[in-house]
Amino acid sequence: MADDRALPALGVLISGRGSNLQALIDAVEDGRLRARIAVVISNKADAQGLARACGAGIETLAIDHRSEPSREAYDRRLAGELRTRNVRLVCLAGFMRLVGAPLLDAFPNAVLNVHPSLLPAFPGVDAQRQALAHGVRVSGATVHLVTSELDGGPIVLQAAVPVREDDTVDTLSARILEEEHRLYPRAAQMILDGGWRLEGRRFLSQNTPGTSR
Ligand code: GRF
Repeated sequence: MADDRALPALGVLISGRGSNLQALIDAVEDGRLRARIAVVISNKADAQGLARACGAGIETLAIDHRSEPSREAYDRRLAGELRTRNVRLVCLAGFMRLVGAPLLDAFPNAVLNVHPSLLPAFPGVDAQRQALAHGVRVSGATVHLVTSELDGGPIVLQAAVPVREDDTVDTLSARILEEEHRLYPRAAQMILDGGWRLEGRRFLSQNTPGTSR
């Protein structure tokens, strides 16, 4: 394998399945994402995503949030592990924990999350179920910078997904997931490329595509 140490390092935080992690791994492998994944950290030891990372030869850590006395201590621990590995960008990929100041301050404007709705609609858990229950005709996927507000940081990329009348949570989730997998590597590359700035809540980039495709 070519020496990739010169590439910027990503740290990916997961709790479960890890399909977005897989999308990042695939994008690194085929050159769409010019980075290396330095470490994958899960708060659940049985997360399926850990096996995906191992399969790709990526270092993994399972750090149970209950192993630390407080949320702050857990975030400090994560920040320490990520900093030790020179991580430049932290990607939350189905990480089912709120991240707080110790991690956000260690990585200012360098923590990304992917969410299965068109934020600010339907933050929090079960976004696809919320969208169906509300009766929206369009939902989608959002990649955003993480702030202390749940699913509330500046939006980097979004893609719309039509809601069909015969959709179930599963069918809608599957179509949204395809968009998540497409958007996340692109958003990560945009952050790493630089040439962007925040104006209030707005993420402005010379590289932002005119459309989501
Ligand atoms: C995704 O839908 C993501 O948007 C949400 O949690 C799910 C994680 O799926 N935050 P996976 O673990 O990446 O497969």
